[in-house]
Amino acid sequence: MSGAAIGTEIHTAERNDPATAARQPQTGTPLAVQLVAPAHPVDRPAPPVKPGEPWTDDPYAQALRTGRGPLYLRRLEPHAHGTAELIPLDVERWCAAPDAADTSVLHRCTGPVLDVGCGPGRLVGALAARGVPALGVDVSPAAVTRTRRHGGAALRRSVFDRLPREGRWGTILLMDGNVGIGGDLATLLARLHDLVRPGGRLLAEAADEDVNQRLTVRVEDAHGRHGRPFPWARVGTTALLHAADSTGWILTGRWSADGRPFVELHRATTGFDEMPTAQDEHATANDRS
Ligand SMILES: C[S@@+](CC[C@H](N)C(=O)[O-])C[C@H]1O[C@@H](n2cnc3c(N)ncnc32)[C@H](O)[C@@H]1O
Repeated sequence: MSGAAIGTEIHTAERNDPATAARQPQTGTPLAVQLVAPAHPVDRPAPPVKPGEPWTDDPYAQALRTGRGPLYLRRLEPHAHGTAELIPLDVERWCAAPDAADTSVLHRCTGPVLDVGCGPGRLVGALAARGVPALGVDVSPAAVTRTRRHGGAALRRSVFDRLPREGRWGTILLMDGNVGIGGDLATLLARLHDLVRPGGRLLAEAADEDVNQRLTVRVEDAHGRHGRPFPWARVGTTALLHAADSTGWILTGRWSADGRPFVELHRATTGFDEMPTAQDEHATANDRS
């Protein structure tokens, strides 16, 4: 399957998906305007966001449009003090071309690849340029727009929603802190286990500290503009491997590049018959269903 074919399939799926339609604002007010807080936030509690709804907030969209930060996750719960309240987001690196650490991950990808929380899409774009079928999935409209503009296929959808090719992805990417998506790593890893084919792999980046934190955060820019709170997690390698083990993943690789720790995990094959062969790879690449 070509990148263009994946893109065509996705656009159609997205238009027809009632879940996607249900998330569209009904008021005529742009979604970003509905979610963003005023520059000087009033003291009114913001309604919490369900897992899968985060990152649609306007400070994030604005940063992706310009390709520049500074942008942060502010910890709301559990409360932190001083500089620990703000977790910097590496917007400039996400919006740049893949670096050497990214390339160490891209080399390990076999298609079709699903990039979960693809952001502005540097990895999806690089895979497409190499002829590897790849799809980004992200809840942020700005992320999807930017990924498509840079030649990648992307779908505006939560990883917890129905997705194309469930159980048939060759590689899943979980990069740049995305082990935090949904705020509960075991739930996320179990979901990804269902998405990948038997014998397929998950390439995941851990936090560069030995942490295991479940947080409530919000996206915030340098002017205090912010979106709504959502659940997030920060997970280092030890906790990541523990969660992977408890959700059926098998550790097959572990390395570090530019101070970024990565792990390679495999979904077990249930028997010889399910081992992916070169023919399977070819068939999957040509499968547009
Ligand atoms: C830390 S950023 C990752 C940046 C990205 N990997 C890159 O290369 O630029 C997290 C991304 O995950 C997305 N996200 C958050 N929750 C999600 C969910 N439930 N499903 C899919 N994407 C999600 C956000 O919109 C955001 O783009």
